[in-house]
Amino acid sequence: MKGPISIAVVGSGYVGLVAAACFAEIGHRVICVDNDEEKVSTLQNGGIPIHEEYLPELIQRHRGDRLQFTSDLRAATQAAQAIFIAVGTPQSSSGSADLSYVDAVASEIARSIDGYKVLVEKSTVPVYTNEWIRRVIERNGVPKELFDVTSNPEFLREGTAVVDFLHPDRIVLGAATERASDLLQAIYRPLTVGEYYGAENAVPGPRGQNDTPPVLLTSTKAAEIIKHASNAFLATKISFINVVANVCEAAGADVEEVARGLGMDTRIGPKFLRAGIGYGGSCFPKDVAAFRHVAEQVGVDFTLLREVEKINEEQKQRFFRKVRSALWTFRGKKIGVLGLAFKGGTDDVRESPALDIVQQLLKEGCIVTAYDPAAEERSKELIPPGPQMRYVSDPYDAAQDADALLILNDWQEFLELDLERLHYTLRYPILIDGRNLYDPGRMAQMGFTYLSVGRPGPMHALDPAISSRFTL
Ligand code: UGA
Repeated sequence: MKGPISIAVVGSGYVGLVAAACFAEIGHRVICVDNDEEKVSTLQNGGIPIHEEYLPELIQRHRGDRLQFTSDLRAATQAAQAIFIAVGTPQSSSGSADLSYVDAVASEIARSIDGYKVLVEKSTVPVYTNEWIRRVIERNGVPKELFDVTSNPEFLREGTAVVDFLHPDRIVLGAATERASDLLQAIYRPLTVGEYYGAENAVPGPRGQNDTPPVLLTSTKAAEIIKHASNAFLATKISFINVVANVCEAAGADVEEVARGLGMDTRIGPKFLRAGIGYGGSCFPKDVAAFRHVAEQVGVDFTLLREVEKINEEQKQRFFRKVRSALWTFRGKKIGVLGLAFKGGTDDVRESPALDIVQQLLKEGCIVTAYDPAAEERSKELIPPGPQMRYVSDPYDAAQDADALLILNDWQEFLELDLERLHYTLRYPILIDGRNLYDPGRMAQMGFTYLSVGRPGPMHALDPAISSRFTL
């Protein structure tokens, strides 16, 4: 199988929209479907609903040509050889994934099938979802030979989604039949043979023409578990380093040195060992809970994941206590906040530890002035501006006359602050850094009271309870 393939992508959220734009970028004919008419019309008119590097360029490059937007799922199904399902799988009240959108889409696709189609799960779904989709399609009267259901999990990160999609570490294709597997492999061929990396205007990334991503062919169930297990493992790595950070803090060691030492072991690896205020976002919290639930359903007690969740929650509380220890009392204190999104590089505030901390500060009577390069609008939907909460468009305005400044996510911009200016802008030069962006020694030299995560700081030196525990 060679040449462009007709693809429908159902759902235009982070995964769906990025996948649609990237499939068009590597040469396929793509129809992106969403039932939100307003969103479709925004996309048709060139609007981009999310903040994502390279996405505007790709959509601009292919919109109206290889990339179409519609709300007509029936027509898109009929036009496509492969239909990627990338709709939301939110967390239900029990912690399991709510698959009602997947169910609804599968039923509608079933009613529209008019020839052989390969359905592809792209959303993060629990093992057995593949089976369920197959049953739904069959129940709607579609004969077995007219379709296959496959699984092709996506590992992109928000903020670097386009690069992650086009330069993946691996491509996992879970399929039960050869013809479905062949079609999926053909879709990714421009990446797996390196053709795309040699193209003019290709989005740059770590992979080149002679360094193509490996393809892993698996069963559909293994592909589903690979996705959940990957996210759960990465979340575990973060919780692990956060507890190590707490040990370091109590013992007077620097977690950054410890993480470097750990990460140099190639069996451990250096990534996802950044201590901080805990993980957030639309994936890790939801997927850890969903995977734990999946395990429970198949009779396996995955208590490790409960611990991971508990540590993550505690990490935010710990940071909050640190702020309190620096300020003594909260009521009426002016706090500057840098960072509202769940991490730098995105406007997404879902499950953002930064917003949790801001909410807590507000509850305690603080007056918060916050800055985030991209997440202001979305934050306002959750925490409306008012006498206690102000949004500003400059980091120094957030610091203006503040009793302390908090760094709550890791935008590159926060690493490049003019520290001298910050020092005289603040009322008191107290900087509490939840992402370890600065060097404590340098900050102390500049006269800051600088607190971070898992590193000896001024409070440590002052706390006799800590040093007395380790008398030599
Ligand atoms: C995550 C995974 O990294 C992707 O592989 C996956 O495809 C995606 O979920 C998904 O399932 O859709 P994402 O949620 O965009 O991607 O964000 P990450 O970059 O993984 O960060 C998640 C959270 O962990 C953030 O709050 C981040 O600040 C935090 N984090 C990350 C740390 O606290 N320490 C680290 O060392 C790394």
